[in-house]
Amino acid sequence: MPLQHIVEAQQFDRDVMAQIFSVAREMEQVVKRYGSNILSRRVMATLFYEPSTRTRLSFESAMLRLGGDVITTESAQEFSSAAKGETLEDTIRIIAGYADVIVLRHFESGASKRAAAVSPVPIISAGDGPGQHPTQALLDVYTIEREIGHLDGIRIAMVGDLANGRTVRSLCYLLAKYESPQIFFVAPEVVRMRDDIKEYLTRHQISWTEVSDLAQVAPQVDVIYQTRIQRERFGDRVGDYEQARGRFIIDRGTLERMRDDAIVMHPLPRVDEIVADEVDDDPRAAYFRQAHNGLYVRMALLRLILEGD
Ligand code: NCD
Repeated sequence: MPLQHIVEAQQFDRDVMAQIFSVAREMEQVVKRYGSNILSRRVMATLFYEPSTRTRLSFESAMLRLGGDVITTESAQEFSSAAKGETLEDTIRIIAGYADVIVLRHFESGASKRAAAVSPVPIISAGDGPGQHPTQALLDVYTIEREIGHLDGIRIAMVGDLANGRTVRSLCYLLAKYESPQIFFVAPEVVRMRDDIKEYLTRHQISWTEVSDLAQVAPQVDVIYQTRIQRERFGDRVGDYEQARGRFIIDRGTLERMRDDAIVMHPLPRVDEIVADEVDDDPRAAYFRQAHNGLYVRMALLRLILEGD
């Protein structure tokens, strides 16, 4: 393939995804054998302007498990030269001299495209504000394939903060690459899915419906993809946040309505939108397995970007 920058989910097609997932399966074995050295002497930089646990640490673990090295700036807004007024473009030009690949999380939509435009080394978006989170969507699709066994005809309910959630936005773009998925959007009024995604799905003849009742849709789907109401993106609209929060919760009642072979996913972190002590022990709770899959998918991406096929 040549995989270079990863900046948006639309750039992938089914064949490329199949290749990534096949390498990710190999990576599950590589991790069991305590890693490999194929990326030894390569350096990955992680540059994070927004908080992260899973995304940054799974990328860093992925690089280390393939024998590579990692340099990192978290809280980059505070601790990198951004604090002195340096532009993102200049920061990228500099880091590109120190690293073979740059993993970037930024608070502005479109930041990874701006970075890719000036970077001589591959840029991997680790989330750009309310825009997209393409590698999360790849691990989400990998998880659906591992857990459900197919993607064509998949029925999925995306629940929660669909206006600010970059993971669901990227996931819609990826699911649109498969045959006849059925997407249900279940969101509080103030954070409904944005029109750009709905128009994209309609243009690609993908069936989507907005529903206001999670209980009604729960028995119909293979996947409930729950998301956090993103308080940090509401600014001073505290009333809107309070109105959205707690509206759709996954609890024992939701599980009772779901099919036996359906799953609950969540990109995490969760706050109160999944009742942990009622749901975590159910085998259909797939969110921790999903987070672990992030390691394998990111190992696969680093290998394909830095080593080729
Ligand atoms: C998500 C993100 O940062 O967009 N988390 C993640 O990367 N797993 C979701 C969120 O913050 O709620």
